[in-house]
Amino acid sequence: MWPLAAWVLLSAVGAGSAQLIFSVTDVVEKTDCNKTVVLPCYVTNLKENNANVMFVTWKKQGKVIFSFDGARQEFFRDPAVPSANLVSRADLPKGIASLMLNSAEADVGNYSCEVTESNREGETRVELRKHSVVSCGEENTPTPKEKCGSWFLLVERAIIIALLFLVIILCSAQLSVIALKYEIVPKKKTGILVASFIFTVAAVVGTVLFVQGGYTAQNQAGLGLIVVPAVILVPLQYLMFGIVFESLQQATFALIGLQILGYVIAVVGFALCVSACPPLHGSVVIAGLAIMAIANLLSLAYVFIMGSRMKDHPRPGKAVEEPLNGLQSYVMCEKYTVVDTPWP
Ligand SMILES: *[C@@H]1O[C@H](CO)[C@@H](O)[C@H](O)[C@H]1NC(C)=O
Ligand SMILES: *[C@@H]1O[C@H](CO)[C@@H](O)[C@H](O)[C@H]1NC(C)=O
Repeated sequence: MWPLAAWVLLSAVGAGSAQLIFSVTDVVEKTDCNKTVVLPCYVTNLKENNANVMFVTWKKQGKVIFSFDGARQEFFRDPAVPSANLVSRADLPKGIASLMLNSAEADVGNYSCEVTESNREGETRVELRKHSVVSCGEENTPTPKEKCGSWFLLVERAIIIALLFLVIILCSAQLSVIALKYEIVPKKKTGILVASFIFTVAAVVGTVLFVQGGYTAQNQAGLGLIVVPAVILVPLQYLMFGIVFESLQQATFALIGLQILGYVIAVVGFALCVSACPPLHGSVVIAGLAIMAIANLLSLAYVFIMGSRMKDHPRPGKAVEEPLNGLQSYVMCEKYTVVDTPWP
C-alpha cells in the first residue's frame, strides 16, 4: 500500500513541476443582471510569481479571443470582444488569469484559459451558460426572484406600462371633459398641448426602451422616461382645475397632493431600482404609479361631478350680481371677454 501511495504522490509532484494546476470551475452562469461577466481561471502552483515570465491565452470554442504577453506587456483582443481584459493585471503574478468582458460580447460556450510560466504550462476549461428566465421560479430554486436574473419580470414590466397608459388615458379623458364643457384661453391651451405632448412622447419612448427584458442603459433610461417626466402631470392638473373651478377648493389641493405623493414614491422607487438587479424595490415604482393613476381617476370624477354642478348652479359671488336666469349668458360673456373676443 505504502509504495503505491508514495508513487501516486511522487508522480503528482513530478507532473506539478512541469504542469500548472488550476482550481477548476466547470460552469459559470450569466443572467440579464450581469453587465460584465468574469470567466474564472486560477493557477494554484505558480513558482516565480512574476508576470514578466507569464503568457495568458483565452480561447472561445477553440479560437483565440484574448492573450496577454507578460514579457512584452502586450495584449491581443479579437475585434469581437473589445472589452475583454484580465480581471486584474496586478493579481496575475498570484495566479489569477480570469477574464472579464461585457456580457453582450460574451457568447455562451466553452472557453479555455491557457497559462504559461517560463517552461511550465497548463490549461483549464470553463463553460459559460445563460441562466434562462424560463427556468425562473422553479421549485428547486430557493430564492426564485434572486435567481431569476431579470431586472424586472415580464409581469412587473406589464403592470408598470399598463399603469402609465392608464394615467395617460385618465388624463386625456379629463382634458376632453374640460375641453367640451369649458372655454379654454389660447395661452392655457398651448400650455396643456405642450405638456401633454412632452409627457406622451416621453412615455412612448420610455415604453419602447423598457419593454424588452434586460439590464442595460436603454432599459434604465426607459424606466426613467416612464417615471421622471410624470412630474408634468402636477402643473397640468393644476391648470385643468383652474379652468373648471373659479377658486381652488381643498379637495382639489388634496387631489394634487395625492398626485405629488404618487410621483415622489415612483421616483424614489426608480432611484432604488435603477442601480439594483434584480430590482428589490420594483413594487415601490408600481405603488407610486398606482397612486398617480388613482389621483387621476379621482380628479376625473371630481371634475365630472363638481364641474357640472358648477355649471348648473351659480358660483358664489356671481349670484348676487346677476339674476339666476341671466347667469348662463353672464358666464358666456365673461368667457368671451377672456378669449379676447368682445361680446357684441
Ligand atoms: C453574474 O452576476 C452574479 C451576481 O452578481 C455573479 O455571482 C456571477 O458570477 C456573474 N456571472 C458571471 C459569468 O460573471
Ligand atoms: C461545452 O463542452 C461540454 C462538455 O465538453 C459540452 O457538453 C457542451 O455542449 C459544450 N458547449 C458548447 C456550447 O459547445
